Amino acid sequence: MSILNFIKNRRTIRDTKRDSINMDDLMELLEAASYAPFHSKEEPWQFIMVSEEKEKEYYASKIVDSYERMELTETYTVEKIKKSTEFFKTYIIDTPMHLIITADHSENEKKNLEAIGATCAFVQNLQLAAWEKNIGMVWRTNPYIFDKQFYKEMGIPENRKILGALHIGYINSIPKGTKKRKHPSEWTSKLSQNISL
Ligand SMILES: Cc1cc2nc3c(=O)[nH]c(=O)nc-3n(C[C@H](O)[C@H](O)[C@H](O)COP(=O)(O)O)c2cc1C
Repeated sequence: MSILNFIKNRRTIRDTKRDSINMDDLMELLEAASYAPFHSKEEPWQFIMVSEEKEKEYYASKIVDSYERMELTETYTVEKIKKSTEFFKTYIIDTPMHLIITADHSENEKKNLEAIGATCAFVQNLQLAAWEKNIGMVWRTNPYIFDKQFYKEMGIPENRKILGALHIGYINSIPKGTKKRKHPSEWTSKLSQNISL
């Protein structure tokens, strides 16, 4: 498949098998993804792997705690809280691998932009490379990623920023159709259209 078609055919995968991810495969994919461009001295990305049962249980419980702390469940009935807690636990336990994406973070706006940009490039490399091994993932930016207490509980220092989590597994089904993209002419403009020269 040409690179153009490869890029166009990748899809976010929300339906994965429960089989564990082969660690050699994952390391090979991460190594390939690390060829993403980065502008700092050292790679600005760091990923926390959550794959063991006890790690998943802890992660799920900290997500639930975070939502309570953030009062996201404040309007929920007891029954609804119970259901959503169960949903998170099942989702986290049933998904073979979670990678919490973090990037270097400091007071320097330019460095932050470069760290986020490079880490996003890494993630897209990973999503594309994984396709070759029939591994799929969804990149989620759920509210807990903005909760400072969650950082502490997950052992993430303040000089790192969470950019989301990748929930990963072998592909069970690929969604039909694609999210429609506008024609590039709709989001490009010539400078001379924007200002009079
Ligand atoms: C930065 C970012 C955050 C995302 N957050 C979520 C999310 O919180 N929940 C979710 O279901 N999908 C999330 N997605 C996946 C997008 O919804 C998905 O990429 C989009 O629907 C296009 O589908 P495709 O990746 O198959 O082309 C996120 C994607 C990106 C790039």
